[in-house]
Amino acid sequence: VFGDDRKNSMGVATDIDSEWTPFAEKVSAFMEQVEWHAAPLVNGQILDGEKHSVTSPYDNRQQVGTISFASQQQASLALDTAAASFSSWSALKAEERGEYLLLLADKLEENLPELVALCHREAGKTVHDSIDEVREAVDFLRYYPGEAKALMDTPETYTDFTGLTRSVSHQGRGVFTCISPWNFPLAIFIGQVAAALVAGNTVVAKPAEQTSLIAFRAIQLLLETGIPAGVIQLLPGTGAELGSLLTSDERIAGVAFTGSTPTAQRINRSLASRNAEPVPLIAETGGQNAMIVDSTALPEQVVRDVLRSAFASAGQRCSALRVLYVQQDIADRVVALIRGAMSELSVGKPSLLSTDVGPVIDETAQKKLLSHIAEMERHAEKVAAVKLNGACEHGTFVPPTAFEIDSISRLDQEHFGPILHIVRYHADELDQVIDQINQTGFGLTLGVHSRNEGTYRHIDQRARVGNCYINRDQVGAMVGVQPFGGQGLSGTGPKAGGPHYLHRFTKVEASA
Ligand code: SER
Repeated sequence: VFGDDRKNSMGVATDIDSEWTPFAEKVSAFMEQVEWHAAPLVNGQILDGEKHSVTSPYDNRQQVGTISFASQQQASLALDTAAASFSSWSALKAEERGEYLLLLADKLEENLPELVALCHREAGKTVHDSIDEVREAVDFLRYYPGEAKALMDTPETYTDFTGLTRSVSHQGRGVFTCISPWNFPLAIFIGQVAAALVAGNTVVAKPAEQTSLIAFRAIQLLLETGIPAGVIQLLPGTGAELGSLLTSDERIAGVAFTGSTPTAQRINRSLASRNAEPVPLIAETGGQNAMIVDSTALPEQVVRDVLRSAFASAGQRCSALRVLYVQQDIADRVVALIRGAMSELSVGKPSLLSTDVGPVIDETAQKKLLSHIAEMERHAEKVAAVKLNGACEHGTFVPPTAFEIDSISRLDQEHFGPILHIVRYHADELDQVIDQINQTGFGLTLGVHSRNEGTYRHIDQRARVGNCYINRDQVGAMVGVQPFGGQGLSGTGPKAGGPHYLHRFTKVEASA
């Protein structure tokens, strides 16, 4: 992790300084000077619409830019354009489609300082998180083309016992609606769009209304690669205005969605109500993620991983830790260490590098989280709360807070922010703990800290989650290394950044 004063303990500038300083200067210049604009983009044309201003979650007095929201008519035009562009796009080889994505990856890297500044100002991410955000988008753009080429450019062949050969080939399905969240405004947005496009589909993308500026900038860069303009349309706007149209239209051949579980359920109903072919819904949704720490765990390592899992990105990751189960035998020590470590967290206005925890996305989120903290203060024991300083006054900050509660079942919903709940358990209650976690119905991430292989294997096997992380933190899945996605109320699979993701964006034909 970069420190604020990038010198080693002898006061000597470290190597990173020579690269970091010019980069930081470029980021600062974009933060200070630029206002961005987003608008509907259909067939490469920028359209007009009702304008909304965007302010920074760090400071609501600072304007970041303006967004023109798309109308339903424009959304319908976007669907027409995407449908008309499908046959020529899907006829290309996957490798050819992938070339555009690889070019976009290079462009994102070339424009890293601007994208970091934009992500930081629009989404309220720390600078570190903003760099990670761009890097993850680049990873998706470099990963899916190779997967698509392997899956789609050479049909799989099967030879039966008589020597006859059959083949199975994968093709694009048609128009995909991609609906992406504000918490990964570039990475998940680009991940969905890249997967849909490289698999031979054309796309109508609706980014979260809170973070349309960065999505617009990314699509501008994509168009600069020379990709046929009709294959990708961008529709900034609200779910209330566009959501139903984009999930009930008969031209749609599939939907990729990341967001809340109730919205995924609504999309499912909307798709099912069409008088048209059944199509896939790829949904990544919420979680009630737990970590189980037994008495063999290393407390210092646990605390480091708990802090990152619960508070990095202000707890606004679907993978983030919400409920920490600690075995009674080491609970006092772990809780004391968490309290101490939380007192070191820096929350507030960024200098470029020093902030650990930024604001939450907007006032609606802030109010909900503060009201949960107030509710917990009445009914649970507070372990620690970071005090917000004056720099937070005009932003949507929520103090990182930890409470002790008696069970995960006390939580009626996911609290999407920097709030940690801690539960103590006794050694003979381990299976009850796993069952309680399973009974939430969610199944996204689970952390386990134990040096007993039998214990962590048992937990991994009994818990119904998409991603189980053992003796490490439970956020920040790496593309191509940790395919990411949940089960149950947490999503439909397939896992993003993994070898099965593209299958769901294609249809399969067998010839004999
Ligand atoms: N993929 C992210 C993570 O692993 C969550 O969306 O943290």
